[in-house]
Amino acid sequence: MRVLVTGGAGYIGSITVKQLIKEGHEVVVFDSLKCGFKENVTECPLVVGDLLSPEEIKNGLDQYTFDAVIHFAAYLQVGESMQNPYKYFQNNLIGGLNLLEYMKERKVPYIVFSSTSAIFGTPEELPVKEDQEKRPESVYGESKAMFERMLHWYDEIFGIKSICLRYFNAAGAAIDGSLGEAHNPETHIIPVAISCALENKSFSLFGNDYPTEDGTCVRDYIHVEDLAEAHILALKYAEEYKKSDIFNLGVGRGYSNKEVVDMVKKVSGVDFPVEIKERRSGDAAIVYADNEKSQNILGFHPQYSDLETIVTTAWNWHKSKKAHE
Ligand SMILES: NC(=O)c1ccc[n+]([C@@H]2O[C@H](COP(=O)([O-])OP(=O)(O)OC[C@H]3O[C@@H](n4cnc5c(N)ncnc54)[C@H](O)[C@@H]3O)[C@@H](O)[C@H]2O)c1
Repeated sequence: MRVLVTGGAGYIGSITVKQLIKEGHEVVVFDSLKCGFKENVTECPLVVGDLLSPEEIKNGLDQYTFDAVIHFAAYLQVGESMQNPYKYFQNNLIGGLNLLEYMKERKVPYIVFSSTSAIFGTPEELPVKEDQEKRPESVYGESKAMFERMLHWYDEIFGIKSICLRYFNAAGAAIDGSLGEAHNPETHIIPVAISCALENKSFSLFGNDYPTEDGTCVRDYIHVEDLAEAHILALKYAEEYKKSDIFNLGVGRGYSNKEVVDMVKKVSGVDFPVEIKERRSGDAAIVYADNEKSQNILGFHPQYSDLETIVTTAWNWHKSKKAHE
């Protein structure tokens, strides 16, 4: 397929682009480079532009035609979204809407969308199934839930088929060591713990009195290479069945924050200090996905999502990046 990848210069997008190309798809990346890196796009054309500008979309992509879009481009810092809701609603909704208008005009039939478990807020039941009630607890989560509804209406009215993939926690780095996670600021636990190991800094663990086995929060981590594969399966599914659908993407079990930190210590060989801090508001004790639907319908079977592989790939990438600084 000829695939337009928005946000393909970012973390998950760039690793997905590599897999798409490896599997024989033709790819064009559209990215503003506000949070991504042009060095991440080496094997396909990169169009630098902002989804907030319909002209930049139209002019930048004029020479191409596409069979499908994978839409990663968004802002994703939960904390920042609560301080600056305008920035998040504008980028994640208006940007997405401009993309849908482009797809409508250029008759692009399929879109795979990066949604998130943050649309559920604190889950009422575990594991989290696709039809569980959505109660986002942040503007970021709300923007993703709202865009899922926009996709529903663009299918109803214009027949654009969408596959919403709600990632739980994306983690790890490319298996070949070429690409990894670099958000600014970085808030995700694995890269933060790795930076503590690399710089021998103290790690802040938020809350150790949750009703979990070791008292720390539990999350479902999915290796970014597995996540990339899920997008390719989603494209195939959309093309074969020509219908919209939604999948929760996790591995169906969680690791606690303490287990994650201990694994970073084991893999790095550095026993960095850990400070226990107050709980953060809005952190649910346990979140993990029900992965039955993604397994049975998409045929999604994660291969790299055990904690040791996740942390080892992330560690190798961060270590080599630091060595080149
Ligand atoms: N990282 C996670 O754990 C996680 C979990 C759930 C969902 N997601 C979703 O996955 C997607 C990708 O996340 P990531 O971790 O790779 O983030 P990232 O910040 O590394 O990548 C996002 C990319 O989108 C680009 N972008 C943002 N707004 C744009 C715009 N208006 N026009 C053009 N390009 C724009 C950025 O420059 C960046 O390259 C996001 O939509 C995010 O909400 C991520």
